[in-house]
Formats: sequence, structure tokens, C-alpha cells
Amino acid sequence: MDKPFQRVTVVGSGILGTQIAMFAAHAGYTVNVYDTRQGAFDETYAKLYADLKAKQINPVIAWDQWQGCKEAIRFTTSLKEALSDVDFVVEAVTEDLNVKRELFKKMGEIAPPEAIFATNSSSLPVSKIEDSSARPQRCLNTHFYMPLQGITMADLMGGTKTLPEVMDKGEQWLRSMGFVPLRVKKEILGFCFNSVWRAIKKQSLYMWANDFVDFRDIDRAWRIFTGAQWGPFGLMDTVGLDTVANIEMVYYDKSEDPQDKPPEKLLEKIKKGELGVKSGKGFYSYPNPEYLDPDFLNPKK
Ligand SMILES: NC(=O)c1ccc[n+]([C@@H]2O[C@H](COP(=O)([O-])OP(=O)(O)OC[C@H]3O[C@@H](n4cnc5c(N)ncnc54)[C@H](O)[C@@H]3O)[C@@H](O)[C@H]2O)c1
Repeated sequence: MDKPFQRVTVVGSGILGTQIAMFAAHAGYTVNVYDTRQGAFDETYAKLYADLKAKQINPVIAWDQWQGCKEAIRFTTSLKEALSDVDFVVEAVTEDLNVKRELFKKMGEIAPPEAIFATNSSSLPVSKIEDSSARPQRCLNTHFYMPLQGITMADLMGGTKTLPEVMDKGEQWLRSMGFVPLRVKKEILGFCFNSVWRAIKKQSLYMWANDFVDFRDIDRAWRIFTGAQWGPFGLMDTVGLDTVANIEMVYYDKSEDPQDKPPEKLLEKIKKGELGVKSGKGFYSYPNPEYLDPDFLNPKK
């Protein structure tokens, strides 16, 4: 598939930004990665590597191509360096509206005027961010899942002024990296599939937090029902429980419905530093969570 442009910058090298950068490099883009944290790319790369190895998952980017992708990616803690000459910026920093707005403002001041800005936010429509960039017609949402694990699809949604050609370029970019674009026709919180996944996640958390069931049974049921390798709780651990809670807060802030608030029990886990794979403990313990046990689906009594 033809590339719609050549130079891509990923802003934020956490769990998602690092994967997006790997896929862009793998597809032959010139990739810069920016993060305020020195060594962020190397650190997250190592975590992703260890997590997939422990889960014995064969990643979409074959193991023997990882090193080449890593070497092709240029990491910097200078935003100016990261954005000189860029065509397409994908922002994947912490899920915080003010942080993202501040970044889009700086990006708008530094990047070439034609550059397109995408946000990988899980819950914020780009319409909440676009004006800070001073180029709302060139802003959009591109929302990825866990691509290295095989979820190679991405939601694609415009803001209030996004040009059709910008949406088309976003779509072409996704296709060129082997992703299925899920194009949203009008704005909705959670985009296409993420809003469906959110309903599953919310109900799963509710069942656990109110002690209706053991969370492992929900994961077992989900895996048996769908044939997936993980259930909602295993997946939330991979996403990061702090990110999960931040996303729920976005829904709560919009609806002000107490049922949309992340459960207190989840916030307590986060306060204890139980953030999932990235901190070594969440619902499960890592690097060898019990759901990898061959007997997990049907444990012997
Ligand atoms: N984790 C997931 O499964 C997932 C899935 C889809 C979308 N997302 C979205 O992607 C974004 C990132 O999530 P994540 O899970 O990768 O987060 P993460 O916590 O793993 O990483 C965030 C990174 O952003 C960096 N950062 C924070 N503020 C910054 C700033 N001002 N400038 C530059 N870098 C900064 C941090 O140092 C960190 O490396 C969020 O918007 C989240 O909603 C996450």
C-alpha cells in the first residue's frame, strides 16, 4: 500500500506510543519518538518484549524484525527536534485533557503548517483538543488497541473541522501499516469499537468491585465465549489500570452519572501502585500471570 507521507513522529513513548512507532518503522516510515522521560522508548520496548515473551505470543512484527525497527527509530527528549520536517504526528501521552491541549499548542507552534496531528486518546474526541493546535482542520483521532498482540485495527474519527483529505490520509496511513481502519461518521465518545469495549469493561469492573463474582471467572467466561487469549481483566492489566481509571473519569465528567465513576476499589489498587503489567501487579501478577497457566480455564478443584 502506498504511503500518504513519509515522516512520522510519535509523541509519548508509553505502552501505546512505542507500539505505534514500531509499526510505523516496520512499514518503512521515517520515525521520531519524543517523550519527556529520558530512555522512555528503550524502557517500554523492554517491557513489551518481556510481556509478550512471557505470554508466549508471537507478535505481529516478527521477533527477528524487532531490533531493525528499534534501530530505525530516533528517540529524543526535544520536541523541536522531533517535529522538524514532520508530516504526521501521533500523540500518545497520558490520558489528561490539559496535558494533551498543552502539547497540541506547542506542536502547532513548532511543526510545519501542513503537518497532521492525530491523538491516540482512548476517550477524548479530538474536538476537545483541536483548537489549541491552531490547525483544527488538520487534527483527528486515530485510536489503536494492542497491535503487537494482534489487534491490528484502529478507530478513525474527525473533529469539528477536519478536512476529508486529512481523514483519507489517516486512513491510508493505517492501511499502509496493515491496520483495518474503523471510520466513525459522526462524533461519539469511545469511537467505533472502543465504545463497545468500554461497556464490557464497565460491567466487568462493577461485578468485581461489588463482589458479585471472582474476576477470574469473568476472564474465563470471556475467553471461552470469544476464543480470545485474554479476558477483560487481563486486558485491563495490559492497558494499565491508571489509564483505565482515567478513561472512566472522562465518561463520568461528561455524564456526571455516578454509575460512570471508576469504582473506589479500582482507585485503591492504583493508590497502592498496582497498575498492571507496567508495575508488575494489577489484577494478576507479572511477568507470569496465572491466566497463562494451562489449567486456568478449567482449574482443578
Ligand atoms: N494503554 C492502552 O491500552 C491504550 C490503548 C489505546 C489508547 N491509549 C491511549 O494512549 C495514550 C497513552 O496511553 P499509554 O497507555 O501508552 O500511557 P503510558 O502511561 O504507558 O505512557 C504515557 C507516556 O507519555 C509520556 N508523557 C506524559 N506527559 C508527556 C508530555 N507532556 N510530553 C511527552 N511525553 C509525555 C510519559 O512519560 C509516558 O512515557 C492515552 O491517551 C491512552 O488513553 C492507551
